[in-house]
Amino acid sequence: MNLIPKNHPEHSWSEFVAIAKASSHSVKDFEVAFAKFMNAPYAISFPHCRVAIRAALETLAPKAPDVALTSYSCIVVPHAVVLAGKTPRFFDIDLDSFNTSFERMHHSIDDKLGTILTTHMYGTAVTIPKSINDIRRPLLLIEDSALALHRPFQPKSPYLKSVTVYSFDFNKILSTIYGSMLVTHDPESAKALNEWKLNNLRPVPIAEQIKFIPKLLACKTLFDPTAYSAFNHFRELPILNQHFESRNFKGPSFPITATYELMPFQGMLGLSQLAIAHELIDRRHYWARKYHDSLSDTAGIQLMPWQAQSHYSHFPVLILNGHRDALRADLRRSGIELGQTLDYAVTDIDYYRPFKFSGFSQSEKAGREMVNLPNYPSMTESRFESIVASLKSWLWKNSSPNARSA
Ligand SMILES: Cc1ncc(COP(=O)(O)O)c(C=O)c1O
Repeated sequence: MNLIPKNHPEHSWSEFVAIAKASSHSVKDFEVAFAKFMNAPYAISFPHCRVAIRAALETLAPKAPDVALTSYSCIVVPHAVVLAGKTPRFFDIDLDSFNTSFERMHHSIDDKLGTILTTHMYGTAVTIPKSINDIRRPLLLIEDSALALHRPFQPKSPYLKSVTVYSFDFNKILSTIYGSMLVTHDPESAKALNEWKLNNLRPVPIAEQIKFIPKLLACKTLFDPTAYSAFNHFRELPILNQHFESRNFKGPSFPITATYELMPFQGMLGLSQLAIAHELIDRRHYWARKYHDSLSDTAGIQLMPWQAQSHYSHFPVLILNGHRDALRADLRRSGIELGQTLDYAVTDIDYYRPFKFSGFSQSEKAGREMVNLPNYPSMTESRFESIVASLKSWLWKNSSPNARSA
């Protein structure tokens, strides 16, 4: 049976030819090209976005220990905060963007708060107000753009340091299987971060480099709807799962790959992916617009308002009335995988409960009710039609008679 995947890395056969030409300057070439793409002077590669966040906190953050961040993000983000010796100060989200308002974090600045980590969740940009430049105490601003490719904010205050981090994990907009880039406009910050890398990262061992080609082959072939059904069946087996799951929900720790530099193969792959970045974003936008238009009047779900500037790494939908799990199970039987990318509020993960000082009702609702509809660039019109038809038909069959007659 075919299974339409919730996401799909977009690799082409020509990338296998490209990575065969990898050399000792491929990673540097990717850094230079990425900086140009972002219209910024410095781009520094990292093995994971979480490592870039940790490095920024360890090298650039003021002494004040607290880091303001969203309670609705990947668990590895607060892990980076804790591993850098800082203290997370969580903020709830708004469901019309899945983002935490920057103003709310900005207004909470006090003697203990040294960093604001703002996240462009699901590709929707948080607006950073120009008033942040009026600040008169040291502040580090980290833009978590793991799920977007927005250009970085450029600070204008001598008190403000700013970096933007991007992820190239296999399920992100660009994929180097795993990988990340940090972008900044500040030469001193770039120097300090490059020194951090020299002290903390090492080249990938040759045995691991050799495994890269089969991993790319897996990403190219296993996410195709025909192969995906079988692959997914075995995915939870530890031997496969270790290649696709790098998060630890028990406590702050990172996988071994967090100690590696980006490898030349990844540099070449990054260059190839960057060459089609605009096309990939346009396609995600295209599917998002179609989903939005097709589903906006559907009962039983809640969409976020249309976000024209979003890169739509995901198309999130809230499934109301406690129906999420049943819907996912039934659609999966009909050959459609609905993701639940973030099915938790960080503040409800045991390790972070001691940091839960207020209510996080919107993050918890998102964790309970969110699904993301398949919106990968190479999806076809007929698959799109079948997803929308199956979703609408399920919601209609499972709605109350009152809702149906409304
Ligand atoms: C919002 C956000 N930030 C950071 C990360 C971490 O990225 P990486 O896996 O490259 O460390 C993720 C991972 O999914 C994410 O969703």
